[in-house]
Amino acid sequence: MGKTFDIGLERLTGAGVSGPVSGPDVSEGAGMEASATVGASIEEKNRTLKTAGCGTHGLEGETFYLETFGCQMNDHDSEKVAGVLLARGYRQVETPEAAKVILYNTCSIREKAAQKVFSRLGELRPVEEAERKWIEDNGAGLKRADREIGVPGVEDAEQWAGRVKTRRLQSAGKIIGVLGCVAQQEGEGIFERAPWVSLVCGSASYRKLPQLIAELEAGNRRVTGLDTDTDETFETEITRRDNPFRAYLTIIEGCDKACSYCVVPFTRGPERSRASASILEEVRQLAEAGYSEVQLLGQTVNSYADPTPISKGRKMRFSELLAAVAEVRGIRRVRFTTSHPRDFGKDIVEAIEAHPTICDHVHLPVQSGSTAVLRAMARTYTREEYLEKIALMKAAKRPISITTDMIVGFPGETERDFEETLSLLDEVQYDSVFAFKYSPRPNTPSLKMADAIPEEEKGRRLAILMDRQREIQRVRNERTVGETFEVLVDGKSRRENQWSGHTSSNRVVNFASPEQELLGDYVQVKVVSAMPNSLVGEMVGRVEFGNQ
Ligand code: 5AD
Ligand code: SF4
Repeated sequence: MGKTFDIGLERLTGAGVSGPVSGPDVSEGAGMEASATVGASIEEKNRTLKTAGCGTHGLEGETFYLETFGCQMNDHDSEKVAGVLLARGYRQVETPEAAKVILYNTCSIREKAAQKVFSRLGELRPVEEAERKWIEDNGAGLKRADREIGVPGVEDAEQWAGRVKTRRLQSAGKIIGVLGCVAQQEGEGIFERAPWVSLVCGSASYRKLPQLIAELEAGNRRVTGLDTDTDETFETEITRRDNPFRAYLTIIEGCDKACSYCVVPFTRGPERSRASASILEEVRQLAEAGYSEVQLLGQTVNSYADPTPISKGRKMRFSELLAAVAEVRGIRRVRFTTSHPRDFGKDIVEAIEAHPTICDHVHLPVQSGSTAVLRAMARTYTREEYLEKIALMKAAKRPISITTDMIVGFPGETERDFEETLSLLDEVQYDSVFAFKYSPRPNTPSLKMADAIPEEEKGRRLAILMDRQREIQRVRNERTVGETFEVLVDGKSRRENQWSGHTSSNRVVNFASPEQELLGDYVQVKVVSAMPNSLVGEMVGRVEFGNQ
């Protein structure tokens, strides 16, 4: 029997990003992953692309470092950005020091996430230790070259330090870029705060990225891509996929929902859907390349609106697209995230019922259990309407696992409102919850709302919510003991004979098996014990698929 290690613990405890615990940020549409997946090393990834036949024009030998913050949408955008660079002949490296191009793909959904990028930019210190010390002390030790750019007075010391740093980074030939949501939000202001940055590009302008990179290669010092009025999506010829078991596919970009607390409509622009024919073609290629699981991504994935007619002017609905993806030969699992309650209908549940390949998991963020707070959040549904969507899933022919996002401490949230959020947990019985303290964000309507909740009180509510949910998960998971699940093996523990994987419902299962190689296989695992965030089991067989 496997030892008990609750490998998925961060799934719950990491949820309150600004709470007493810290963990990865997620954006709506992007539940975080917490299993010990075994990914390819950077060298392996570089090799894979070379052999995949991508063009290597131009800059053979140049290097890039890419760090990603935030949600699965960002992770996947980074896979595409890496694809663009690899196709230009760049090679990915593991440290900023070793790279010619240093890129940060950023998240601004909550304040803490946005702050991270500026601390990263501050860490780029090619200035030698002695010089840095001088800058810090604002004193002696100045090199001749530094004197040429001026000696600072106390008031402009910071600006001066920035100039020294900029010059050093440029003379070291580094190109530093900020991508993603912080880039979109702060725009050219980033150049002022960190003058050593040379590229600022928001996710809505990624189509321009190859051109921007070419301009930098040609010697341009500063380039920006900040438009959001695009109706295009970011499709590249080659995407460097980091997860060897699950392939991500963006089907809709941006968001039109305008929730009053959220920066996403500003940073990612309006909703743009990808043509269904192009999505299906990519799924076919992925299946041919050996991927059996695909995850369709979008901030509001179920608001998908096919831009091109499939026949006689008829366009595919999201549920039809799901079904069509599920029918692609070789595809065993189809996931989708995140769904918006407003656009979630019976047709999606019916598609899940009709296609065993569509995973029995729906992430349906509620944000609050109080209709008054939901109204202030501009979520476009009441508690009762949300519960109707839940009822559709609970009535499904096969059990559907439901997860959600919640915000505590929204301006004006009373103790009674909060109690309603807690009672919603009891009523719905979620399998997992990502909970966050409300974080005021620039440009959002809720920034100006009265009755802010003190940080300490937000923390208290978050802790209560997480305790309540942990208990719900403990009980729910314990009920699975004795059941057998199909598991896609995606992780191998350092401990001998210990593996991990995900069920169709996206539960993490750690299990024992003396088999030599299981990664990427589908196996049957019988649950022997359960924890709030993961199950422990024993492998009882393999899953054989007929010729689909
Ligand atoms: N403060 C706290 N949480 C937020 N989220 C989005 N914006 C904010 C904010 N300003 C949460 C929502 C969303 C998840 C990805 O992040 O719960 O669903
Ligand atoms: Fe999600 Fe609302 Fe933000 Fe759109 S505006 S990404 S629906 S939270």
